[in-house]
This record gives sequence, C-alpha cells and structure tokens, in this order.
Amino acid sequence: FGEQPLRGRRVLVSAGPTYEDIDPVRFIGNRSSGRMGFAVAAAARDAGAEVTLVAGPVSLPTPAGVTRIDVRSARDMQEAVLKAARGSDIYIGAAAVGDYRPVDTADHKLKKTDGSPLRLELAENPDIIASLASLPDRPFLVGFAAETKELAAYAQDKMLRKGIDMIAANEVGPGRGFEVAENALQLYWRDGGAALSRMPKTELARRLVAHIAQRFLAGIGT
Ligand code: C5P
Repeated sequence: FGEQPLRGRRVLVSAGPTYEDIDPVRFIGNRSSGRMGFAVAAAARDAGAEVTLVAGPVSLPTPAGVTRIDVRSARDMQEAVLKAARGSDIYIGAAAVGDYRPVDTADHKLKKTDGSPLRLELAENPDIIASLASLPDRPFLVGFAAETKELAAYAQDKMLRKGIDMIAANEVGPGRGFEVAENALQLYWRDGGAALSRMPKTELARRLVAHIAQRFLAGIGT
C-alpha cells in the first residue's frame, strides 16, 4: 500500500474459533486456526488503520502494532466486539463463531454414566455481526461465509439476512479453507462483486482489505 487508504481509520477484526465449555476440561469448538483473521488484521494495519483484533483461542502471535483482546466463548466475543465497535469505522468478522453452547456448564468434570447416552442440551449463541447491523452509527460490516456448496447463493443470502455491507465467501472441504495456508475468496457487496483466486492467506488478506477500503470509502462519499 503506497497510499495507505485506511490511514486514520479504526478497524475491528474478529478471528479464530470460539470455545463453549461443557465442564472444566471439555468444550465445543471448531477448526478455525485464526490465520485468515490475523492476516486481515495485519493487512488493515499496513493499509494505515488503527487495528483492534478480538481473538478466540488460537496459537498465533499478535501482529505488530495491533491491539489484541483475547476471548473464549461466543458471548465473551460479542461483549468485546460490541464494546470495541463504538468508534470503529469498519468491522471485519473473520471469526468462526460457534452457533451453539451448552445450556449448562458443569462445575465439575462430568463422569461416565453406565453406558447410557449422555445428552447435552444446547442453546443458540447470539449472531455477533447481525447484532452490530442494528446499531445506530454502525461500522461498515464485512462478514465471511464458509460454504461446502452453492457458494454464491448462500453467501449473498447471508449478507442480506444479516444486514451487512460485504461478504467474503470461500469453499471449505478437505484441504480447502480451514487449517491451510492458501485460500480463494469470492467477494460480494450489494451491487457488485469480485473474485480473488487461490493464493497465500497473507496476500489474499491484502487484496481483500484493498476492496474493503474501496467500498467503505465509496460508501462515505470519499
Ligand atoms: O456462521 P456463519 O456462516 O453465519 O458466519 C457468517 C458471518 O457471520 C461471519 O462473518 C461470522 O463471523 C459471523 N457470525 C457472527 N456471529 C455468529 C455466527 C456468525 O458474527 N453467531
């Protein structure tokens, strides 16, 4: 970025999985490594932005110059994101937020029963990005969509349903999307889109941030 299109702007990024505790030693999580979100945070920093990164449990170093807030569950993440969203110009939701959490978290380690099935009752988690969409003075909202089929239709439907400005969609499956260093993205916004071919996530993140900056600046009439 020669010209740093996001200079003076505040960008909030969420990344990684969420963990929902079942008991003191077990949880429900997912396979998100956080790599894409961390790369997006670094790319936004390089584009000149002041970046806050809300990270679920991941084992990645904090990008230099980025303010990091560590969280565990989806509800922790929502609280941190809502707080940090005030004063943010752009929110990029790269986190793989768990859709459900156990209704109860046991205080002590669950014991095996006598061979009968163990039933876990699950409650739905809040949709973080959708909760930002209804805020007055909300940031420009960018979501991610990982799909195993019908990428375009599902992603565009998600963008409209959640009331967000832009969505970055990728196909996931064996060797694609999660836990790998490369990815491809299909971008959609209300009246257009762009395809970013398969490349390292760091480079992909830079291209994505360039598109986000362009759409954001167009939206505020710059
Ligand atoms: O999981 P889903 O496909 O709905 O995720 C699409 C987008 O919505 C992602 O940007 C994700 O971070 C966001 N999301 C969220 N809160 C949830 C579920 C998803 O912010 N509970």
